[in-house]
Amino acid sequence: MPIAKAPEAKTYLYRLRQELSDDKVSHCIFTAEYLSSFAVSLGIEHDDAVAAGLLHDFCRDYDAHELLDQARQFRLPLSEAQMAAPALLHGPVAAALCRQEFDINEAVYQAIYWHTTGRPGLEPLGQALVVADFAEPTRKFPEAVEAREQLRKHGFAAALLYVAEMKAAFSREKPVVDPNSQAFVLWLKSNTPT
Ligand SMILES: [Fe+2]
Ligand SMILES: [Fe+2]
Repeated sequence: MPIAKAPEAKTYLYRLRQELSDDKVSHCIFTAEYLSSFAVSLGIEHDDAVAAGLLHDFCRDYDAHELLDQARQFRLPLSEAQMAAPALLHGPVAAALCRQEFDINEAVYQAIYWHTTGRPGLEPLGQALVVADFAEPTRKFPEAVEAREQLRKHGFAAALLYVAEMKAAFSREKPVVDPNSQAFVLWLKSNTPT
């Protein structure tokens, strides 16, 4: 179903164009479209897929100072990794701001909040956003190409585990490792039927 069918899509796009550079707006649109293409098969509401896809990077152009400032204003918990790399806060801050401005539901809030790292217990919309954000069709790096292949050939669970493992591997190369990425992989493995 096209993303324009979601009643709030126009409003979100209007605001995204005020907040983000053109290439990031384009990434958000592709993420929402890609997410919508497989969301219904996972039992996810189309409107929720569109909201999460479009809004997930709402704060991606905020600098470190703005992210820390907003996080403190919303009283979001700050981890050691987020303090060291405030860009990790762009999901949590976007979730808080979008809940305030657009009245998004809890599933969309959680999906936006956790889209960078995932976490144990992440619900289907959040899981789907992790895959769509990483593998939307304009992402050209080899791991994104492989993730699209996994989704096409082996289904959502395989694609999700692949993406989570790749993100955890990237995260391990950072000076401060975000423990949620690693915990998400372990949780997925413990929940994957063998
Ligand atoms: Fe993001
Ligand atoms: Fe993104």
